[in-house]
Amino acid sequence: VAQSTAQTPPMGWNSWNKFGCDIDENLIRETADALVSSGLEDAGYQYVNIDDCWAEQNRNAEGRFEPNHERFPHGIKALADYVHGKGLKLGIYTSAGTMTCANTMPGALDHEDVDAQTFADWGVDYLKYDNCNNQDRPAVERYRKMGDAIKKTGRPMVYALCEWGENQPWLWGRDAGAQLWRTTGDISDNWASMTEILDRQVGLEKYAGPDGWNDPDMLEVGNGGMSDTEYRAHFSLWALLNAPLLAGNDLRSMPPETTAILENKDIVALDQDWAGVQGHRVRDDGDTEVWTKPMSDGSAAAVLFNRGNSAATITATAAELGLSSSGYRVRDLWSGAETETTGTLEANVPSHGAAVFRVWPATAPVAAAPASSSYPAGHG
Ligand code: DGJ
Repeated sequence: VAQSTAQTPPMGWNSWNKFGCDIDENLIRETADALVSSGLEDAGYQYVNIDDCWAEQNRNAEGRFEPNHERFPHGIKALADYVHGKGLKLGIYTSAGTMTCANTMPGALDHEDVDAQTFADWGVDYLKYDNCNNQDRPAVERYRKMGDAIKKTGRPMVYALCEWGENQPWLWGRDAGAQLWRTTGDISDNWASMTEILDRQVGLEKYAGPDGWNDPDMLEVGNGGMSDTEYRAHFSLWALLNAPLLAGNDLRSMPPETTAILENKDIVALDQDWAGVQGHRVRDDGDTEVWTKPMSDGSAAAVLFNRGNSAATITATAAELGLSSSGYRVRDLWSGAETETTGTLEANVPSHGAAVFRVWPATAPVAAAPASSSYPAGHG
């Protein structure tokens, strides 16, 4: 029986957003060290994922991938051992095509079995499978072949489709053996890119759940192209969407403001809730929006999102969050402040900001309680 590898969305780090092809084994080791020393590992971040450009241009005499001799001289197995020694997991990358996107290393098309076995032999725990140089061959077939090849190795590996949402992978990704699928093209480190990707998640929530997640791409938090207010919004919304939380910044030189965003345990808890119900947009008033997500303990999360260029007061009713109680306990997940309310959330949200609340129905009414006889039968 295949072991569940992504009961909740995978969390970790990936090299691409910050480093592109400028990667080597020292970066990977130092990142693993930093995951531990920064507290990210304790916050749930587990995968150290190597993206494009780790291999030699050509396969070796056995027809296998050959790690780049200059930049990965000790090979991937040694790196996996190092990462495992820290209680972390190692991810790797190739493409369902003849070459990867950077065109510097082979893809795995028509080499699925030997490549999956190589990854398994090295102790790899996660494969991101890109879509470049695919020879216009059918996506479902290409991605299923690798899913089958991974299963044949017997090694539990997260299988992440990176097909950019071109063939509605949310409809067939699970069946192809994947635990997550990219829904769009690449994120860039700017507000327009982040919000455009966000808009394209609307309606996909029904396809997500344990071991099958929509992937709106990796985090840009801390990469410098957005303000910390914008990064808090980005992180909050990605958590609400049950996105994989893959940090994409340089963990070795992280300012405390960035660490505080990535390690906000209350926000991470939204992403990692065991029920795995993806959040969705319940109100779109143009510049202001309300997003909500039901949590397994009967509470709800709410993101009050301001896309406008000035501060705005945003409200949301308990009914919009799917709750019906006479009183609530509310925690502001960025300030930590706790309040009680009888039903309506309200926040003054800065331009390009997000206020995030978790709302628990009170076990006892917080305001003047109506006589119990006024409750309909069965009211809980
Ligand atoms: C395209 C993918 O969508 C990116 O996330 C990244 O993996 C690059 N390819 C690498 O070339």
